[in-house]
Amino acid sequence: MYKIIDGKIVSKKIREEIQQKTSALYKDKSVKLKLATILVGNDPASKIYIKNKINACSEAGIESEHIDLPATTPESELLGIIDKLNGEVEIDGILVQLPLPSHISADKVTDKISPDKDVDGFHPYNQGRLLAAKDYDSLIKSGIPIPCTPYGCLKLLEYYNIDISGKRVAILGRSNIVGKPLSLLFLLKNATVTICHSKTKDAKEIIREADIVVCATGKRGLLNGDMVKEGVVLLDVGINRGEDGKIYGDADFESVKEKASFITPVPGGVGPMTITMLLYNTLTLGLKRRGIINI
Ligand code: GUN
Repeated sequence: MYKIIDGKIVSKKIREEIQQKTSALYKDKSVKLKLATILVGNDPASKIYIKNKINACSEAGIESEHIDLPATTPESELLGIIDKLNGEVEIDGILVQLPLPSHISADKVTDKISPDKDVDGFHPYNQGRLLAAKDYDSLIKSGIPIPCTPYGCLKLLEYYNIDISGKRVAILGRSNIVGKPLSLLFLLKNATVTICHSKTKDAKEIIREADIVVCATGKRGLLNGDMVKEGVVLLDVGINRGEDGKIYGDADFESVKEKASFITPVPGGVGPMTITMLLYNTLTLGLKRRGIINI
């Protein structure tokens, strides 16, 4: 019998802890943390994500400043805005919602955000620190921002006391936002990790041997119950809109659940954790930059 990994419950607990910390900060030191968000263009999904991020900030006691820019905004103008936010002492984090219009280089934008305000953990300096980390606990203690979705996946496993050490993990998808950083976190937790992608030969055999499978491809129906082993832990990062307007993961929940020991629903599994870890990164970077915690 499978157990549901409930991202709403885990998120609620972590968000409450963050809220308590921000309210104590405000009482003791009159410090208000602040996140700057930037949206370029009118992508409807991005608009919803940004709205959800701003609402979550407000509930957690983090102020936000939102900058809406037209799709035609020149790259140089966006880079100038980021530069200005880098220099503003009251701004603790800067988030530029991806994807960006094609005339703007996402690499140039992530490189421009100061690493100490990089709440997404996408800056090459922070990616490098993650790559160079020698153990998980010291990485967390260092306060380096870890990409929110991968970090959220690890927090879910931690909450449900799911063992990682020595386990075989198959990650489907090799993006810089999820697959690659997640593989490094699992490695730091002593798992044996394989990243599968569109060119992987014999992916089915790799998946069938895995104790933990993470789907992060954005392709609905990629995984079904016939492909996984009995007792598998499934984390589904996929967010795919069906023709019926509903949200579906990459995996076929109904068939995988018959074999799984733990499984995330979509929605309500990994999804809420992404925003939760954004709040966590904003808090940690804010405390560190303001010298309130010494790491
Ligand atoms: N677009 C999809 N996921 C993300 C994310 O985690 N951060 C940002 N900035 N944009 C995204």
